[in-house]
Amino acid sequence: MNKVGSTIGYLAAIILPAIVLVYYIHVVAEAKEQALAIARAKEPEIKTLTDPSTGLPVDPVTNMIMGDGYATVKKECARCHPTTLITTYRADKKGWTDTIRWMQSEKGLPIFKPETEEVILTYLTSYYGK
Ligand code: HEC
Repeated sequence: MNKVGSTIGYLAAIILPAIVLVYYIHVVAEAKEQALAIARAKEPEIKTLTDPSTGLPVDPVTNMIMGDGYATVKKECARCHPTTLITTYRADKKGWTDTIRWMQSEKGLPIFKPETEEVILTYLTSYYGK
């Protein structure tokens, strides 16, 4: 082999694979760094909204005002239908009572203990009243 030929052979056999290897290591290291950065990035916080008329926080899941009695209402009212049915409805105490009676007679809503029903009706008329 002449000198030029052996130089090209040397380049092809040693230097090019070495360049490829260094480049590959670099790419892998960068990908690893990116994956770590993504893993370290904090989960975005769910921003709690405030109801403008009461100043109370709004539950980001149900979109309902977290006022007095909310825990009871969430427990009793959020399992059959989307809570938008409730948050878009407006009624006075009689109207809410009629709606509850209707769901109890037609839709399988259980009868509440009087004190539970009072908590629910107070919540509904306070925050979704007419
Ligand atoms: C056992 C299932 C069930 C539960 C629990 C339930 N509902 Fe309902 N509700 C229904 C059904 C079924 C409808 C009719 C849905 C439809 O029209 O798509 C309905 C409809 C409504 C409506 C709309 C009424 C109308 O005339 O448009 C409102 C308001 C409502 N529910 C409020 C409530 C509240 C407040 C509670 C908690 C006290 C509650 N629901 C719990 C089954 C339920």
